[in-house]
Amino acid sequence: MTIHLKTDEEIRVMREAGQIVGQTLACLREMIHPGLNLLEIEAFVRDEFRRRGAKETFLHYTPDRRRFPPYPSNICISVNEQLVHGIPRDRKLKEGDIVSLDLGATYKGFVGDAAITVGVGEVSDEAKKLMKVTEDALTNGIAAARAGGRLNDVRGAIEDTIRPSGFSIVRGYGGHGVGRHMHEEPHIENVRARFKGPELRPGLVVALEPMVNVGGPDTSELDDRWTVTTKDGSLCCHFEHTIAIREGREAEVLTLP
Ligand code: MF3
Ligand code: CO
Repeated sequence: MTIHLKTDEEIRVMREAGQIVGQTLACLREMIHPGLNLLEIEAFVRDEFRRRGAKETFLHYTPDRRRFPPYPSNICISVNEQLVHGIPRDRKLKEGDIVSLDLGATYKGFVGDAAITVGVGEVSDEAKKLMKVTEDALTNGIAAARAGGRLNDVRGAIEDTIRPSGFSIVRGYGGHGVGRHMHEEPHIENVRARFKGPELRPGLVVALEPMVNVGGPDTSELDDRWTVTTKDGSLCCHFEHTIAIREGREAEVLTLP
């Protein structure tokens, strides 16, 4: 397992990549309304990348050419029981839906990766609670990511935030190192491990991505080989930020607008 620590100069570039992602997601948050077609979201992202000189990160990505077809879009849009990796298609958002927007961009050779979940119009109290718990888990995970600590501190902070809600923590998907590649070491499950894990050193850049289901923790995959849904069809939620561990202070969030 090789963890690639980043220099201050590399983190400066990763901040630019992250801002493109953060600002584009902030625009999309404002755009979300009942009746919006998912293909309009994909088109907006394509235009934004062109305007800002960013390169596609998700488009044509595959973790394993033999097992997964290349991902066909620039953004993952996952609605309601869809957890992650939803492919934008001709579908309109409806009042009461919740939609996860997961976006990656490559700028000057480095990747920014972030996701938000947004309610469409007025949503149920349960959906509101689900979104709050998942976003709080991300916030608390970031707060626990301090130089000198261990990766398990972050995993534990995320787990401890979600547990009291009674919702389920998804296993098998999680955060990851980020750099010149979208997925680097270490992989970060959203629950504690038996071991403390690697030390959090200045220059470590990771994406944290808590995923929470209202119902059971199990997931399924659609026939498109990408879209991950809850197995029981329950509502689910996903938030993500790319963060950098900095000397002597809290981690810096690179994907803020
Ligand atoms: N944020 C997601 C991840 O970290 C995005 C991957 S989508 C893909 O896994 F299509 F590019 F795979
Ligand atoms: Co990610």
